[in-house]
Amino acid sequence: MTEELPNIRIPTVASMREASPYIRLHRGETFVVYFDGDQINGAVLDGLVQDLILLRGLGIKLVVVHGARDQINSRLQDSNIEQEFVGNLRITRIDALPHVKDAVSSVRIELEARLSQAALDVPGRGSALTVAGGNFIIARPAGVVNGVDLHFTGIVRRIDRAAIERRLNDGEIVLISPLGYSPTGEVFNLNSLDLATSVAIELRAAKMILMMESPGLVDRDNIVVRELNPRDAREFVAANQVGGLFLDSAIRACQLGVNRVHLVDQTVDGVLLAELFTRDGAGTLVSNTPFEQFRLATIEDVGGVLALIEPLEQEGILVKRSREKLEIEIGHFSVLLREDTVIACGALYPFPNAIGELACIAVHPDYRRHGFGNIVLQALERRARDAGLEEVFVLTTHASHWFQQNGFLRADIQGLPIERQAMYNFQRNSLVLRKRL
Ligand SMILES: CC(C)(COP(=O)(O)OP(=O)(O)OC[C@H]1O[C@@H](n2cnc3c(N)ncnc32)[C@H](O)[C@@H]1OP(=O)(O)O)[C@@H](O)C(=O)NCCC(=O)NCCS
Repeated sequence: MTEELPNIRIPTVASMREASPYIRLHRGETFVVYFDGDQINGAVLDGLVQDLILLRGLGIKLVVVHGARDQINSRLQDSNIEQEFVGNLRITRIDALPHVKDAVSSVRIELEARLSQAALDVPGRGSALTVAGGNFIIARPAGVVNGVDLHFTGIVRRIDRAAIERRLNDGEIVLISPLGYSPTGEVFNLNSLDLATSVAIELRAAKMILMMESPGLVDRDNIVVRELNPRDAREFVAANQVGGLFLDSAIRACQLGVNRVHLVDQTVDGVLLAELFTRDGAGTLVSNTPFEQFRLATIEDVGGVLALIEPLEQEGILVKRSREKLEIEIGHFSVLLREDTVIACGALYPFPNAIGELACIAVHPDYRRHGFGNIVLQALERRARDAGLEEVFVLTTHASHWFQQNGFLRADIQGLPIERQAMYNFQRNSLVLRKRL
């Protein structure tokens, strides 16, 4: 009888490898995750709770802010209390307040129970993961809006940042419910999305993740917009008449110090992990920094560049560079980043007589044939021109046609600077190409 092979799922291995730079990147960062109360009854709650525990396990400081809209609606309905709104703000009269407290508490208790269960399911776990709560949110009445008194609907007055951070530093998940307390001892019903945004801003969170009922920001042609900066986001809303409160929150958070806001589809199982640990994400990113960023490399980029070029070195496509050599030469390199991961790179080495060598141009295999190689090449040529160079050359074994398509011409070794000729590796037998700038 043949023995069954162990069940190694290659896509999982690949996913873990893809995730590993993000795991390192996110460790120790503070994320605020928001979802409304309807998630409690949703089919993906189990997966979501497991993913939250996983994020915590990966060293992310996690603040979860929940809403309770559905639960409040149904309790008010059951008690025949009329639901009144001014804009998106609910009017919370004194007779509604006990139902609001009841609804919010029930969601909170359910979430605490699920988080406790999921934490206990982790194999080899030493001590239980604690979910922290408390009087972190000081509120005040929203007051009279457009002539209408909102009674016990409140807005955030102050957030006890130090207390939240203490809990996060102790490794606890902070769960924040949409109720706030006033210094006069009253309880206020808060808009949960607004609360999550205020918390993310106050904590200077690295990320705020808003779970919503659509796959991110969708344009008129039903295509998900992958990335926007706050200014483009405003223009997008005006042009497409979509976006609403989620986008408003994202823009506000970005403008007030939260670098990245992710809008993701709450109905998709695993959406948090897909958004945070894959190169392409799973929703819309509203970010102050451009999605693709081309800049000079620093010593911090050595690991990212090595990860990109080592497989090509092993295939003999690029010349082998040790980490030490790369550390010395990193000042010559430029990198193209997507979400802080190096997806392409290239180097420029100036020689006397206004000539420079372009080297080590590489694009991650997942991103080839999207014009990134061209972006890198053009940017390096621009740098060469800015540095006063009049001509560039390249030595290549596998990409001569690509360079030719980009305006390079075949040349002789004798045309290279003398110093470079002396270093020419005849065994590699690279082709020489030149381009006047
Ligand atoms: C060469 C390289 C940088 C191009 O990156 P890229 O982002 O795919 O390039 P672009 O999107 O700008 O251009 C894509 C076009 O170039 C073509 N192309 C890509 N690599 C090529 C190569 N080695 N030879 C000939 N053509 C090539 C593609 O087929 C595509 O053309 P098509 O769409 O008409 O079929 C990338 O393939 C790479 O990293 N290769 C391995 C490293 C290497 O050889 N570097 C050069 C030595 S310094």
